[in-house]
Amino acid sequence: MTAKLLEGKIFAAAIKAEAKKQVESLQQEFKVTPGLAVIIVGENPASKVYVANKHRSCEELGIYSEVIEMPIDSTKAMLLAQIDELNHNCKIHGILVQLPLPPHIHTDEAEILDFIDPDKDVDGFHPINVGKLATGQEHLVPCTPMGCIKMLELAGIEIAGKNAVIIGRSNIVGKPMFHLLLARDATVTVCHSRTKNLAAITKQADILVAAVGRPHFVTADMVKPGAVVIDVGINRIAPKKLVGDVDFEAVKSVAGAITPVPGGVGLLTIAILMHNTVKAARLQLS
Ligand code: GUN
Repeated sequence: MTAKLLEGKIFAAAIKAEAKKQVESLQQEFKVTPGLAVIIVGENPASKVYVANKHRSCEELGIYSEVIEMPIDSTKAMLLAQIDELNHNCKIHGILVQLPLPPHIHTDEAEILDFIDPDKDVDGFHPINVGKLATGQEHLVPCTPMGCIKMLELAGIEIAGKNAVIIGRSNIVGKPMFHLLLARDATVTVCHSRTKNLAAITKQADILVAAVGRPHFVTADMVKPGAVVIDVGINRIAPKKLVGDVDFEAVKSVAGAITPVPGGVGLLTIAILMHNTVKAARLQLS
């Protein structure tokens, strides 16, 4: 069997086209242009690329975009002051602090993210939004896992009643993915670095989500024939070579459908960020 290729660009284009329509209707009906502010601290090269891509997507869709570059030695207080300004800035409907933060403020990450107005929290990381997701009141939801869900929905892949297995329990992907799949009536198992007999569990998965951050971690013997395999990993194994968490070449002959890396769910993350920014602007209309 050769798996169906789930290409991110097709789904991302559909989500962005819908967001663009929403931008136009917000402008026509309410004279409001959705605005996104992205704060980047320091010079992390990968982060700079991600932030530039976000800015470009905003421009494509007619979303107002501000990139705030703060020096590497910025203090927690400086970041909180910047967020405070954006929380009160009526041109800005979405605020994103690009992670990772530099080491000297890394331990302050939770306090910094919690300072973002929950209605402007387009990353969906604020405890209020996490709590809403966990209690079935989806509000602003983390972009990468929501991108995986939208991709399944747009590809016509049924979620209800399926066995879904997630490898990875991060706050950004694994945990929100669990809630999103559970809310859509999948039977969900979350595996992690201490899971025993991992392959025996992953082989039960109709939908397998890999979010471990280890190149080629998921091998063909871990996959049920015909399964849908979603690869959230982005691992740089050489200066110009990115690979996922899934051994794509081997797994594609076992799976029923598979996302490539690059060119898979990574493209959906930004599309959902645009969607969340428009949604946040709508929430703030009153
Ligand atoms: N760095 C890598 N992924 C993300 C993300 O989803 N949000 C933020 N803010 N930073 C990131």
